[in-house]
Amino acid sequence: MKTKIVVVDKNVDEENSYTQAVDILKSGEVVAFPTETVYGLGADATNFEAVSKIFEAKGRPADNPLIVHVDSKETALRYVQEVSSKALDCMDAFWPGALTLILKAEPEIFASNVTADLQTVGIRVPNHPVALTLLQKLQLPLAAPSANTSGKPSPTLAEHVFHDMESKIPLILDGGATEIGIESTVLDMTSEPPVILRPGKVSKEQIEAVIGTVRSSSGNTSNVPKSPGMKYMHYAPTAPLYLIENEKGLIEKAIEYVQGKGKRIAVISETEYPMADFNFPLSMDSLYASLRKCDLTDADLILASVESGTKENDALMNRLEKAADHKWFS
Ligand code: TXA
Ligand code: MG
Repeated sequence: MKTKIVVVDKNVDEENSYTQAVDILKSGEVVAFPTETVYGLGADATNFEAVSKIFEAKGRPADNPLIVHVDSKETALRYVQEVSSKALDCMDAFWPGALTLILKAEPEIFASNVTADLQTVGIRVPNHPVALTLLQKLQLPLAAPSANTSGKPSPTLAEHVFHDMESKIPLILDGGATEIGIESTVLDMTSEPPVILRPGKVSKEQIEAVIGTVRSSSGNTSNVPKSPGMKYMHYAPTAPLYLIENEKGLIEKAIEYVQGKGKRIAVISETEYPMADFNFPLSMDSLYASLRKCDLTDADLILASVESGTKENDALMNRLEKAADHKWFS
């Protein structure tokens, strides 16, 4: 299959880009599109066959459910039940935006592979003009995980999607770089108090300011993870990635040690280390691109410098820990 990239641009027959995407989605195929967090790999959430093509293209385990994207709170309410006043308050405060709510699904709407046979569904209204226009024109709920090969960093550019999905999907809508750069916060509204299953740009403090106490389960090590995605390998570059405390002396010593063994080293950090073989930036919106850039080098080892003590970075730290599989350089 040939994979086409269509740049969505007001000046270049924008209408035709959406028509192509809607036609393909309605015919049961998969289309990648930008959201404000990362690019998504979308299919009609009511069509089992279409959704199975997402799992196939990503190589995603079938027991990891997908997020459903809709164009508004009103549309979302047609698909979910037992919506608490706290859930309604979250929708009003954060949608459109980077907050996914886990709610009881209305039965017999979503294909069973969207929810991995759970009674609940993750749902959000994305805050991106291309995603919103597509959803309004499509008038169907769109199941969409991040548009990367399972286990790889999520795509923040159309070219990342092309790298992973070339010849596997027919169309990528190119809306430029995604603004936030990491996936949405996932908040389970079926527990009381609600539980953050995945931290994101929308912080615990912001949520608590709206609905009061919520719990955090990012450190959850229970055997039956509430968010099935928590148990899988994530965001991993090809070369081994290690975390290191953000301390100049410590990092320089590490670089010397690795190079002393005849190996090449890439550093992902807010600061540049001229002695390193490669340097890439570290921030929420650059992390995944930096991890992907490491894959284009011949680095034997990657260091990411982190401030383990600071709490305000919990979403970024969560992704780094997963990407490094919790390994620290020592
Ligand atoms: O920002 C995002 O959320 C992006 C963009 C494309 O919207 N999407 C995304 O989807 O990150 P994905 O599939 O890569 O991550 C979905 C996460 C997984 O960790 C999954 O286990 C969890 O949400 N999830 C989905 N449905 C769930 C449910 N019913 N109960 C618990 N966790 C659920
Ligand atoms: Mg993902």
